[in-house]
Amino acid sequence: MRDIIKKANELLTPALVMHNDITVKRAKGIYVEDVKGKRYMDFTSGIAVANTGHNHPKVVEAIKKQADALIHSGCIFYYEAVVKLSEMLKDITPPGIDMFFFGNSGTEAVEGALKLARFYTGRQGIVAFTGCFHGRTLGSLSLTSSGTRYRRKYHSLLPSVYHSPYPYCYRCFFNQKPETCGMDCYEYMERLFKHLLSPEETACIIIEPVLGEGGYVVPPMNFLKRLRKFCDKWGILLILDEVQSGMGRTGKWFASEHFSVIPDIMTIAKGIASGMPLSVIAAKKEMMSRWSPGAHGTTFGGNPVSCAAATATIEVIKEEGLLKNAAVVSKYAMKMLNKMKEKYDSIGDVRGLGLMIGIELVKKGKPYTDGIKKIMAHCLKNGLILVEAGVDKNVIRLAPPLIVTKEEIEKGLKIFENALKKAG
Ligand SMILES: Cc1ncc(COP(=O)(O)O)c(C=O)c1O
Repeated sequence: MRDIIKKANELLTPALVMHNDITVKRAKGIYVEDVKGKRYMDFTSGIAVANTGHNHPKVVEAIKKQADALIHSGCIFYYEAVVKLSEMLKDITPPGIDMFFFGNSGTEAVEGALKLARFYTGRQGIVAFTGCFHGRTLGSLSLTSSGTRYRRKYHSLLPSVYHSPYPYCYRCFFNQKPETCGMDCYEYMERLFKHLLSPEETACIIIEPVLGEGGYVVPPMNFLKRLRKFCDKWGILLILDEVQSGMGRTGKWFASEHFSVIPDIMTIAKGIASGMPLSVIAAKKEMMSRWSPGAHGTTFGGNPVSCAAATATIEVIKEEGLLKNAAVVSKYAMKMLNKMKEKYDSIGDVRGLGLMIGIELVKKGKPYTDGIKKIMAHCLKNGLILVEAGVDKNVIRLAPPLIVTKEEIEKGLKIFENALKKAG
């Protein structure tokens, strides 16, 4: 058999990081199978994408049916798949969100959201948060700050973008403890608006409601509410980037629901079409309907096959009760992990919402980056695929498909515990 990995390394740029040295032949549900027939539990969902599990039969059927009928429109004519999906999205997105623009990837959605915010407000300023990941194209990269590796050698980036610290309580930027927290991070942001950028010339504040690439961090409940209030006061648009946290990942359709905050603009991608390329800018009609013809566009966005996959994805999440399952399995996983935390000094923090769980590994209080590599290698050998996160790459992000059962999560976490013991 051809050595796929060797050939891939010859032909594909090393800029694109492959996380594991395995070659997969097929995947189903939470399992992937390599070319030698070895099965792995995928607790990454291909980075929060295969929320309905790999190759869900209903999604596959919808893709086949749509491909048989119509694959492409390129905005040359109307087609039903995109309208059907929009109607379904209107139902599951927060109240007031009722108009959509479809693209192909998360970064494209973020680019469009920034353009919409500037177009609508006529303002230039953008505020983002340190630790967030919003994409790799030059506009979204100007916001991305989950690690300098993404930004190195690409300056100058978009001007008029300012960053404020994300409320990462375990590693508080202001050295506060939860008992002493006066939400200095929020006050820092307010000062930014006094020192660097006037609120009257700010188009938007953009934030991930739960930090993804930056380490699966959940902000304090009040933080997003305060942002919402601040935005309302100054006529600034609040953009919630739900590319990773959306589509049921946190046990609700969108993470914003946990915080009772309604965004002006929302970006959605990853899990929306169970692996087919699709992204969405979702906004209030009052705003999006003023985006004039030609102000934004796409050739492939809203591809009929991707839209059909997304429609099937939403139906599967509803029919199989996957939001509830994510919440129930999450509780079980958190309980197991918190017990492990008591047992092992190397687990510094366990946090998350739904099946977006971060396990931060430390050694003498410092990020345990070397340890995580060993742990992940041990897990892989024993049939469990994991992926890391965080600026120091010392956080395991647990993001299994939302169909995962308690038994499966228990099996996976036992493999993880053994790896933890081995890594010392
Ligand atoms: C929150 C968030 N926004 C945007 C992106 C960019 O998405 P894509 O890789 O599809 O461009 C990602 C990708 O990980 C993400 O997690």
